[in-house]
Amino acid sequence: MKFTTIRWNEADRTCTLLDQTRLPGEVVYETYRDYREMETAIKTLKVRGAPAIGVAAAFGVVLGVQDSRAGSYAAFKEELNTVVAVLAATRPTAVNLFWALERMRRVADENAANGIEAVKTVLTREALAIRAEDEAMCRHIGIHGAVLIETGQTVLTHCNAGALATAGTGTALSVIYQAHREGKNIRVFADETRPVLQGARLTAWELVQEGIDVTLICDNMAAQVMKEGKIDCVVVGADRIAANGDVANKIGTYGVAVLARAHDIPVYVAAPSTTIDMTIRTGVSIPIEERHASEVTEGLGRRTAPDGVRVYNPAFDVTPAAYVSAIVTERGVARFPYDKSLAALMSG
Ligand code: MRU
Repeated sequence: MKFTTIRWNEADRTCTLLDQTRLPGEVVYETYRDYREMETAIKTLKVRGAPAIGVAAAFGVVLGVQDSRAGSYAAFKEELNTVVAVLAATRPTAVNLFWALERMRRVADENAANGIEAVKTVLTREALAIRAEDEAMCRHIGIHGAVLIETGQTVLTHCNAGALATAGTGTALSVIYQAHREGKNIRVFADETRPVLQGARLTAWELVQEGIDVTLICDNMAAQVMKEGKIDCVVVGADRIAANGDVANKIGTYGVAVLARAHDIPVYVAAPSTTIDMTIRTGVSIPIEERHASEVTEGLGRRTAPDGVRVYNPAFDVTPAAYVSAIVTERGVARFPYDKSLAALMSG
């Protein structure tokens, strides 16, 4: 890719993020040394997308404890728990965040006997491993997913499940990049994705950079575009997938899936196994983040709704498993019924 979403700088032990709130107008990298800055970056969507949030949080843990002067492991653990709790409270829906934080906490405990400085080293190594594994998962999702796309087809995607949302080439967009690399002639329609416009600002930017044929539409145009026969399949990412295959993803995904069903168009969900939450039986139990009203009442650089209006702003929705044609992971492709296929995939 022509940009780096998350970078660890070993020389001065800082973490650099591409500030996604300033895209597509400005490409600005910000470097952090304080985990509180990472907390703010996740909350304000400077870094966003389920896998990227997990990787950023892992580096946030490193930033949070690397200067610890704790005299015992118990005192160090208390500091670590505070850092983990602060980062865990940033965004509730993407399970990758909690998965990464738990992995960091576990590796600290496993190495407690070696002393605090050794634990700090191990935590850095673990965050780098989470980053590297995410990169590899993206690559394999692309390889498995590209099989589902035929040359000449047009793919509709929603939100941004690209390189900006991961430490690699993305999930949904990795499928597209891989198909393109294999020489398949494919086109993409990108929903703009109100209210924060991840489709317009981020997906369209990424695809234009990579030379993929992309057409931007407003969210409310998807039905008409499908009716006109312009879409062959839908490929989206996920923030959390329940054990039964219900998929939480960016608000509007459920609507796209219902439209796709009405037009007999397959819906593929591309996500790493770190997005699958086997502890949650169905999508009903997935916590849905509600974000600030200003995301809805402001647009185009000005206020677009009257003062005092009540706003409801859920950032995600849950697409029932029955609307999902396949779930593409780095381990392979799962099909309905997902309670069986996901269990097999996760235990394999
Ligand atoms: O609010 P965001 O921008 O973090 O939401 C992102 C999405 O919904 C993505 O589709 C999802 O995280 C998958 S990213 C590979």
